[in-house]
Amino acid sequence: MAYNLLKGKRGIISGALDENSIAWKVAEKAHEEGATFVLTNAPIAMRMGEIKQLAEKTNSQIIPADATSVPELTNLFSQSQEILGGKIDFVLHSIGMSVNIRKNIAYTESNYDYFMKGIDVSALSLHKMLSVAKKMDAINEYGSVVALTYMAAQRTYPFYTDMADIKAMLESIARSFGYHYGKDKKVRINTVSQSPTKTTAGTGIKGFGEFYKFADSVAPLGNASAESCADYCITLFSDLTRMVTMQNLFHDGGYSSTGASMEAILKFKDE
Ligand SMILES: NC(=O)c1ccc[n+]([C@@H]2O[C@H](COP(=O)([O-])OP(=O)(O)OC[C@H]3O[C@@H](n4cnc5c(N)ncnc54)[C@H](O)[C@@H]3O)[C@@H](O)[C@H]2O)c1
Repeated sequence: MAYNLLKGKRGIISGALDENSIAWKVAEKAHEEGATFVLTNAPIAMRMGEIKQLAEKTNSQIIPADATSVPELTNLFSQSQEILGGKIDFVLHSIGMSVNIRKNIAYTESNYDYFMKGIDVSALSLHKMLSVAKKMDAINEYGSVVALTYMAAQRTYPFYTDMADIKAMLESIARSFGYHYGKDKKVRINTVSQSPTKTTAGTGIKGFGEFYKFADSVAPLGNASAESCADYCITLFSDLTRMVTMQNLFHDGGYSSTGASMEAILKFKDE
């Protein structure tokens, strides 16, 4: 059901790789809620082609941009304003990649070049986006920027390796930039800390399948789907959350507040 929550709003949505991507669901919902937006992804992801289907379905244009490149992000914000006909109201940062995870390298053995690459792609890219937007004054007052994160920023999950530290940095950038952008231009910046979700980035993590089931058995409401994450992002882009900024918001069916569930404990029942 749509509520026209984003009627008249202009946005930039990054990170839609295929129909499982959280960003894909956000784009579908934003379209349903009346927004117009531009889709963006790294040029390499574009070549895989699926994003074109999403662009057709949501009546949107695609602007390739590597989120680590300030010139490409500058082009993204200037072209988006031209295409959409004005300043931007919402931005989704849905970008994550760790070469250490991809190559199955243990945390204690992290390769530092890969670590730096992960920081640049998955955390600094948010700072770069915000800095470009602020310099260009590209986002409207009470505009909303949302970046996706995971709870490994607060608690240790051995398989999440360097992405844990990188997500902690991402969340810190949201708070720090949120202060400055809020003071100067009333722009809001939040992170949404999402349940494990079956996407390309998620399932690339070793042992994801088992962990997905574990988290599902701990969370009273079960794991939150990509689609419900998209619903939550839409509320954060809407005017109904105008005073919410600099927050890390858990969207995880209650997992982060649960110490143990009976379902999980009973798996250890003495025979
Ligand atoms: N899947 C999960 O379990 C889960 C849980 C919590 C948070 N998240 C976060 O959600 C976000 C989206 O991931 P997803 O799960 O939808 O997976 P996904 O693989 O569908 O999306 C990741 C996206 O990042 C893009 N990307 C990678 N390098 C880039 C670059 N240099 N420039 C621009 N874009 C680049 C990829 O092309 C891809 O579209 C990520 O930040 C991820 O860490 C995922």
